[in-house]
Amino acid sequence: VIDVALTRAELRPASIAVVIDVLRATSTATQALASGFRSVRCADSLGHAQRLRAPGRVLAGELRCVMAPGFDLGNSPLEMVDGDGAELVLATTNGTPAIVAAAAVADTVLLGCLLNLDALASAVGSAEDVQIVCSGTDGAVALEDVYAAGRLSARLGGERTDAARACEAVARGFSSPFEALSASADARVLVAAGLAQDISYCSIESGLSTVPRVSVAGCGVASIVACDTVTA
Ligand code: MLT
Repeated sequence: VIDVALTRAELRPASIAVVIDVLRATSTATQALASGFRSVRCADSLGHAQRLRAPGRVLAGELRCVMAPGFDLGNSPLEMVDGDGAELVLATTNGTPAIVAAAAVADTVLLGCLLNLDALASAVGSAEDVQIVCSGTDGAVALEDVYAAGRLSARLGGERTDAARACEAVARGFSSPFEALSASADARVLVAAGLAQDISYCSIESGLSTVPRVSVAGCGVASIVACDTVTA
């Protein structure tokens, strides 16, 4: 069954969870791995991320969409250039907490966005018991996540829940990814913060073949997961 959690509150145990935060955490993590970062540690708070500061690590984090004080980078995929084998630590308001939460209940956790849509659909394949987890925004449904969930669901075979069908119907209502993302409340926040370029970039469909996967949850710090790359 292909199911969708419209927000993190609906997260449940599943064989595969695909966590989506199109604007922008999962787009940023995907781009980071594609740009040569060795791994991404997703922290569920800025404080947990700061405790991971160490040589060879780059800290990326946002507060109200702009770079958090004391961090090296913000949460923009456009900042993730030339990772050069470093490890990225990423902390965002909604996306990385959703990843950490999914890692606690799902057997396998993949990170999805529009940038890796084709590769993601291949990586999920014909798996049964898939929950696509929309990170949402502050507990509310986020249109851009629902759109991407619908696009992914439409590419997967098998039975669907009503939530998955509803997302597919939403996705069919837009003529392009950019149109869908631009219609979201989160896009308006990014525009107000001077980050409109990120909306265009995160709208690029299947430009990357990288599918981040949670490989380690815990590491002695319960809130942290590391992602590595699977190439579909
Ligand atoms: C989040 O996790 O809430 C978002 O990724 C925020 C952002 O776009 O910086």
